[in-house]
Amino acid sequence: MSKALVITGGRPLSGSVEIPSAKNSVLPLLAASVLCTQPVRLTRVPRLSDVMRCTAILEAIGFSARREGTDILVEPAALRSANLPTGPVSSMRASVLFLAPVLARMGRVETCMPGGCRLGPRPIDIHLDGLVHMGATVKWKADRLILEAPRGLHGIDYTLRFPSVGATETLLLAAACARGATVLRGAACEPEIRDLAEFLKACGASITGAGGPVICISGRRELGGAVFSPLPDRIVAATVACAVASAGGQATLRRCDPFAFSPVLAALQQAGCEVELRGAEEVCVARTGQLKGIGRVFTGVYPGFPTDAAPLLAAALLCAASESSIEDTVFENRFSCSAGFAAMGAEVEAAGHVLEIRPAKRLHGAHVRAGDLRGGAALALAALAAEGETEIAEAEHILRGYEDPARLLRDLGAKTAQKNETVS
Ligand code: UD1
Repeated sequence: MSKALVITGGRPLSGSVEIPSAKNSVLPLLAASVLCTQPVRLTRVPRLSDVMRCTAILEAIGFSARREGTDILVEPAALRSANLPTGPVSSMRASVLFLAPVLARMGRVETCMPGGCRLGPRPIDIHLDGLVHMGATVKWKADRLILEAPRGLHGIDYTLRFPSVGATETLLLAAACARGATVLRGAACEPEIRDLAEFLKACGASITGAGGPVICISGRRELGGAVFSPLPDRIVAATVACAVASAGGQATLRRCDPFAFSPVLAALQQAGCEVELRGAEEVCVARTGQLKGIGRVFTGVYPGFPTDAAPLLAAALLCAASESSIEDTVFENRFSCSAGFAAMGAEVEAAGHVLEIRPAKRLHGAHVRAGDLRGGAALALAALAAEGETEIAEAEHILRGYEDPARLLRDLGAKTAQKNETVS
């Protein structure tokens, strides 16, 4: 059973939304809970399919991971298995984050390659290279990856060749329970890295510098547990801001960190939106007139313009009065949504890492397909500005990162529905 999102465009948005906890924080925190010998409670966790995949991995290796209202409670266990389950691993990139904790606990981990959005090649060489430097051996048996470290992992002084978010998280998790001290240089600086470090510290780890390029970790053999509230989702916040830019109207974003997605707010402001900060956790975004193009935007690692928000900004700029282009420097295939944009009447051209956007007079409803999470969300934003009805097939990609996208937009006055489609 596939899902579809149906949106009837042409209504300006109005209202206020609370931003949920960040998917990209919750997933590493669930992986980190493998290291904990006491219960872990994560609060305000959205019901995302990727979160369910993580709890399925935890259950498969022996943990109890259950929902209690909006919390997730993970209870410690003697690990039953060092084999990660193929289903959830092969459908989610973040499953790679379970490698280091299971290896640290069991001295062994076996898995297939992680799946996830097809944004271009997504190797895990930095994860593996760092773990090898910490004492792990890596073997491939057909399509199974086996890591072993029977005598445990040890601390290292290691420079990442690229500030990969996932590899920084892998090495932070490995170092937290390794023998001795670790220094990670060239680390990713994304806010979700700092959140993971704060969680590990709450469980007893000793970490300084997370959120900057050099992280120092003093290894502990055992971590306790914690009650932890993950940070707000800066990409969901960017989605709501870009939705307003696309549809017109205004929205107040509550419980967000405006500075964590300030490059998105700055781009929208440059295009002609009004952005009003209301304290540390609230921002109001409004669009009354037509937007103008903003030239070329480059995505980059934090604090640059987030790659995940590139298709969202593109959707907002489709009907701007002049040209824009977005170059994604992180992934090769960020703009698979361009075919859907074009089907709605947009004047777009995707070539390599770049999406060129020329002014479209108007957009119209169409039958389109979500190819990946953020590209699918971007089609929904374009649909808000289109005349008539748009049906976005394969909306399950969108549900990986948005609990209920139809309701999120409906709460702001959009006409939306989610429907189940029978696949013949
Ligand atoms: C995380 C986010 C994702 C976001 C991305 C970049 C999570 C769960 N997902 O993904 O939403 O789009 O950061 O901000 O947090 N690379 C290598 N070798 C490696 C690892 C990465 O070459 O070992 C390359 C990747 O192919 C990619 C680039 O580095 O081109 C960025 O990847 P990375 O920062 O690792 O992203 P993820 O952690 O997968």
